[in-house]
Amino acid sequence: MVQLTLPKGSAPKKGKEWPKPERSKNVRKFKVYRYSPEEGGNPRWDIYHVDMDDCGPMILDVLIHIKNKIDPTLAFRRSCREGVCGSCAMNVGGHNTIACTKGWDEVAGSVISIAPLPHLPVVKDLIPDLTNFYAQHAYVQPYLKTDTPEPEKEWRQSEEDRAELDGLYECILCACCSTSCPSYWWNGDKYLGPAALLQAYRWLIDSRDEGTGERLDDLEDPFKLYRCHTIMNCAQVCPKGLNPAKAIAKIKHMMVERVA
Ligand code: SF4
Ligand code: SF4
Ligand code: FES
Repeated sequence: MVQLTLPKGSAPKKGKEWPKPERSKNVRKFKVYRYSPEEGGNPRWDIYHVDMDDCGPMILDVLIHIKNKIDPTLAFRRSCREGVCGSCAMNVGGHNTIACTKGWDEVAGSVISIAPLPHLPVVKDLIPDLTNFYAQHAYVQPYLKTDTPEPEKEWRQSEEDRAELDGLYECILCACCSTSCPSYWWNGDKYLGPAALLQAYRWLIDSRDEGTGERLDDLEDPFKLYRCHTIMNCAQVCPKGLNPAKAIAKIKHMMVERVA
């Protein structure tokens, strides 16, 4: 059943307001979600005042500045710092995005909120637990499945067939789309969500793959695929400009075509 109030102990409370930097004329205020399982209790919003003249241009730079110069206990994930690994996905100013390519000057408001991706368990601070998300990715078997014997050199593909993968292969598995999808919020244990389904379509449409029938069988149930109601949040938030809703619609079309 849909739960419309936060479970007990999960509503963020007012946290600590850290001191403003002295002598700085260019300061912005950030409200950052903090939660530590060791400390227990409710999560909290801590307030940090950042000297923007001493900080790089991206939200990730703000977090690195806070960690290095204000509060070393802040925990967040990042790796590539250039929009490739997907690990710095979080909710900034109410929108899911990746922190390393989101400029702080792109976010309006006197206070910028920074929180973990919504509707996932939190490991610590801005770090969500992606166990279920990765299991769903594994479920769609994101690799080439073939019956014919391995070619001596390579699986060949025409330029046109390769072009079919454009708009799909670029996915960095950041989870911004799935965690912005209302259907995924309510049924994330059964509905595969836009990220896993975009990956499913990426392999369904690959001209070299010979597992199409099995792949469609694996998606054929009332929840895994059909919980997408074309709300389109997924396409709006994708930091790589991809359109998972379109990929999902194409899988549904393939389902219809095979019974026709
Ligand atoms: S279009 Fe489908 S997958 Fe995308 S947000 Fe809406 S319900 Fe979720
Ligand atoms: S489709 Fe876009 S938002 Fe979704 S996981 Fe891939 S890159 Fe992230
Ligand atoms: S750090 Fe890799 S995408 Fe942001």
